[in-house]
Amino acid sequence: MVYDLLIRNANVLDGSGAPHFRADVAIQGERICAIGEMPYAKANTIIDAQEYYLAPGFIDVHTHDDTNVIRTPDMQPKLTQGVTTVVVGNCGISASPVTLAHDVPDPMNLLGNAEDFRYPTFADYAQAVDTAQPSINVAALMGHTSLRSQVMDSFDRPANSAEISTMEALLRQALDEGALGLSSGLAYRNAIHAPTTEMAPLVAIVGEAGGVYTTHLRDEFAGLLDAMDEAFNTAREGKVPLVISHLKCAGAGNWGGAVQALSKLEAATQHQHAHCDCYPYTAGSSTLDLGQVTDEIEITITWSQPHPEQARRPLKDIATEWKMPLIDAARKLQPAGAVYHNMSEADMQQVLAHPLSMVGSDGLPNDPNPHPRLWGAFPRVLAHYSRDLNLMPLAEAVRKMTSLSAANFGLTDRGTIRIGAYADLTLFDLNTLEDTANYETPIAAAKGIELVVVNGKIAYHQGAITGQRSGRMLRRTERISHMTPSDQSKQEQTP
Ligand code: ZN
Ligand code: CU
Repeated sequence: MVYDLLIRNANVLDGSGAPHFRADVAIQGERICAIGEMPYAKANTIIDAQEYYLAPGFIDVHTHDDTNVIRTPDMQPKLTQGVTTVVVGNCGISASPVTLAHDVPDPMNLLGNAEDFRYPTFADYAQAVDTAQPSINVAALMGHTSLRSQVMDSFDRPANSAEISTMEALLRQALDEGALGLSSGLAYRNAIHAPTTEMAPLVAIVGEAGGVYTTHLRDEFAGLLDAMDEAFNTAREGKVPLVISHLKCAGAGNWGGAVQALSKLEAATQHQHAHCDCYPYTAGSSTLDLGQVTDEIEITITWSQPHPEQARRPLKDIATEWKMPLIDAARKLQPAGAVYHNMSEADMQQVLAHPLSMVGSDGLPNDPNPHPRLWGAFPRVLAHYSRDLNLMPLAEAVRKMTSLSAANFGLTDRGTIRIGAYADLTLFDLNTLEDTANYETPIAAAKGIELVVVNGKIAYHQGAITGQRSGRMLRRTERISHMTPSDQSKQEQTP
């Protein structure tokens, strides 16, 4: 038999966290069909891996690439990191099921302009993704703030029961059409007035459908632990697996809190399925939030609609120049984007290294001066944190961006190297691997990613995008487990 693609002499990290092994990997069509020593195998394309590491393609579980996978289908920032699947629709904001006539509510403006919101159903969005043929796969959450934008005339109050029923119907339809689940962004001003009683019925619908619930907590500062409790309760009652988005202890007064937050997460997993995602940086980034303006940390403006000339400058310098308090300068810059240096390195490392955390970039692709996580998150975990600082073994770092992510988001036959799995693969040279994007030069492709294969086709090779765009919309086909390990062992014991 002649294979379509054969990758020879690879050090295979299969995504499970097990140590690497030496093998050749053969691909037929879009799936892996043989793994082992195949010195005499024939293939249309043969690539010598030169003993580099071959891992499952990375899954970016936390993105805001909703409209970019359609508008810029090469998806260069992600493909060059070895990412083969993005989960869009995080933090309560998604491009569907949404149509907008004029104003784009904060922070939906992170995704694009009003004309980019033109998908009244998830099916319309999925169709647009497939038509655009992105270079990588896409899976989607439905955003709670996006649902609100379709049924409410103002966001500064709880939704009433009629509005909740309409949101339920929109969500149910999207889940039927293959959406993965629901996300919320309860810290944002357009969602913060949604009480638990607004979230509960929506989350319960996700539970019925077998989806997942991800949440940007109501409070990532002093009220973190209470906000975690709210998320655990909502998810447990709705019988859904929970992912806490970008778990962090934000604000200088709260540094050192990661140990407590992580033990709380561990405790919750006694009763429910719960995980978190994390990006490997100590600065956050989003729209400029007046509630986060403080002189205790450095805040850099990344864009400003009324004052584009102030981009890339510290808010402090702008305020000094304008001879006004920080908060007034911030008000004058809005709408705007910012990078907040609001975490401690020790806290972030503890979250990143924890076995319940997955890697998610939270990159902001429409920011003209994006936080470097957009182009660098995945190589940074592998090179800086695993190889250089030894924060975790390489195989464990890979597990956090592949098999764990696929399991938590119901991505069947992805995130693993085994016979029968989809051939989403990333080959990297650990010696030269480096994230080159930083706060000064945020738009820069990583080094050391040698080859990226998506659904069996070579999408990136030796620093060049091949133009073969073989990504697709991944629709949820099975129920995502919300059972705890103890539930599971009980079930296995029953004959
Ligand atoms: Zn968020
Ligand atoms: Cu986010």
